[in-house]
Amino acid sequence: MGITWDEKRQRSKEKHTAIVKKRKEERLALLKQTMTDEEREQHRLDVAAQRHERIEKEKAEKAERREMARTGIPIIVDLGFDDLMKDGARKSLASQCRMAYGAVMKMSKPMHLSFVGAPGSDTLTRVRETPGNDQWVATFHEGSLTDTDENGKQLWAKERLVYLSADAEETVGEIGNDILIVGGLVDKNQAKGVCHRKARELGIRTVALPDKLLRQYQFKILTTNQVVEIVAKFRDAGDTGSTEQRWSDAIGAVLPRRRSG
Ligand SMILES: C[S@@+](CC[C@H](N)C(=O)[O-])C[C@H]1O[C@@H](n2cnc3c(N)ncnc32)[C@H](O)[C@@H]1O
Repeated sequence: MGITWDEKRQRSKEKHTAIVKKRKEERLALLKQTMTDEEREQHRLDVAAQRHERIEKEKAEKAERREMARTGIPIIVDLGFDDLMKDGARKSLASQCRMAYGAVMKMSKPMHLSFVGAPGSDTLTRVRETPGNDQWVATFHEGSLTDTDENGKQLWAKERLVYLSADAEETVGEIGNDILIVGGLVDKNQAKGVCHRKARELGIRTVALPDKLLRQYQFKILTTNQVVEIVAKFRDAGDTGSTEQRWSDAIGAVLPRRRSG
């Protein structure tokens, strides 16, 4: 099986980082040859101080992002389709959920990811069993999108719920306080229209990502993690520029470039 776009992107990033690191080390080795012992010692202390400062800054930024994720606007991944997938597809979906979480937590203002699956959902269990998952700032709910808590209050206010679906007639615009739901399905679109039907049955509005923009990348149906990342990027951009421009930027940052030929 060939590698996915996300894996390709990751490999290319790692290759670039290794080249930059090697060049830096070569420059430093040259510089050190011209230094006295004292200068070398001072250089070592400077580097250690800079490293300490950088680590502390990163720690503080991470803590701030985690706090934002705790209180951020939710985005739901609906893991209610286990029955439609074979084991391999469920495994792949669990891996997409991990990538989605990683992508959301890299944003400057992370959203709050919620994974919702039927009781005993295999995919939900796989995601929860990810090493380090106990540190995730995310919600895992076994039940339905329209469940209520012990006081009868809806877990996610129904009037705010909006299901993303390529089959929707309406195109997404501003998302304000909407709680977007992304279908958790790896089906090569064989289960056509499933998420759209489910949303309608639950009385949830549906919207599609702008088809015109997706066509520029020769895409129509995207994967679950791509859609989560696009929405997270759109939200992260705040209200700079027109709505269409922000969707275009978010889509362009996530999808691979136009394939030629
Ligand atoms: C691989 S798709 C699932 C396709 C599935 N056959 C269905 O019924 O939607 C995974 C999810 O990504 C979201 N998605 C994919 N392409 C989309 C698009 N063009 N517009 C809006 N949402 C999209 C939907 O939430 C969808 O459920």
